[in-house]
Amino acid sequence: MGKFDAIDREFLFKRAKQKWGRWDRDTISLSVADIDFPAAEEIKEGIRRCLDEERTPYGERKGMQEFRQVITEKLNTANCIPATEDEILVIPGTMFGIFLACYLCLDKGDEAILSPAPVYGPFWDNVKAAGAVPVGHALDMNGGFGYRLETLEGLISDRTKMIMVCNPHNPTGKVLSEHELEFIARIAKKHDLIVFSDELYEDMVFDRRHLSIASLEKDMFERTITAFGFSKAFGIAGFRISYLTCGQKLMKKLIQRTKHIIVHTDTLAQAAGLAALTRSKDWLNGFVEHLNSIRVRAVEYLNGIPGIHCTPPDATPFLFLDIRAFGKTSDEITEYLKEKAKVIVESGTDFGPAGEGFIRINFATSWDVLEEAFERIEKSLAALAQSGP
Ligand SMILES: Cc1ncc(COP(=O)(O)O)c(C=O)c1O
Repeated sequence: MGKFDAIDREFLFKRAKQKWGRWDRDTISLSVADIDFPAAEEIKEGIRRCLDEERTPYGERKGMQEFRQVITEKLNTANCIPATEDEILVIPGTMFGIFLACYLCLDKGDEAILSPAPVYGPFWDNVKAAGAVPVGHALDMNGGFGYRLETLEGLISDRTKMIMVCNPHNPTGKVLSEHELEFIARIAKKHDLIVFSDELYEDMVFDRRHLSIASLEKDMFERTITAFGFSKAFGIAGFRISYLTCGQKLMKKLIQRTKHIIVHTDTLAQAAGLAALTRSKDWLNGFVEHLNSIRVRAVEYLNGIPGIHCTPPDATPFLFLDIRAFGKTSDEITEYLKEKAKVIVESGTDFGPAGEGFIRINFATSWDVLEEAFERIEKSLAALAQSGP
């Protein structure tokens, strides 16, 4: 049996406190965006090596030099982003990057356009926490999550400061095309806006090629804060490790503020990130192959359930299911599945108002678990349909 063919559910209830640990033993969680597999052995070895080197004193503020060197090479080659080592800041998690971008770039009364929306909840929360107003740029929720170029510029006002992009996109799994990114870039330049681009899911891409908006031209690199991380594809969310890159002007501000907040990111977490980038490629390839194969089976299964429509994701471990046919809200269906099917899913409205009528499923598990969850969902939704409005 391959390492992605089965999961140890009993162990997950103990180690995955947010995804599994909160529920009864007979509940299946397809919610929180953890993966259900242990991390690559190479990552654990990287941490052990760091311990053996007694790396307990304070380290470099921007992140370990050897780590930033590897990140620079990766950004220059894999992402075509022209960053130097000084234009990288290692941070404790991508979520912290979202916070920093909002905290540093937005003032009271400013507006930030979230494009596309619906989008990961902390985008909304952190814009609001900065005293600014989040303005969602909704996808076409009726047609395979099409990006609506024609509606973006109309959302810009004289208070708009930033466009926040999530690519690959949580929750729809969409990968933005070169044309769409060029369009966003043109608008950002025309209105002199900062761009924040969350590219945490860059390693979980199946169908299209992921492109960084900061790679389009030097000016876009200068005005874009791009966040990359390890939580999802490498399954090390608990280690809190991620990095930002942007041009010198923005980077100076970021470094100045973070050194007074956290000094620097945890050294052991950086060792994990370094091992992920340098030594875990084979593990990652095997994992993405597994994800891709169950993605195809999952989409086929779900589209066979009356009332559900599932658009195949280009990337990410997410399926964003259209459940509008049941005539209930996303919250109601989420609650119903929790009670009746004992399956935990995420309500579409956790991602903003455009997510109404949808639920999100995280399929980064083994097929047997997913199939059992789908059977339960199918049975309980059939009962719901029969019971009438
Ligand atoms: C789009 C997106 N950004 C950021 C995060 C948080 O990532 P991290 O664990 O690196 O803070 C998540 C987690 O689900 C996410 O989906």
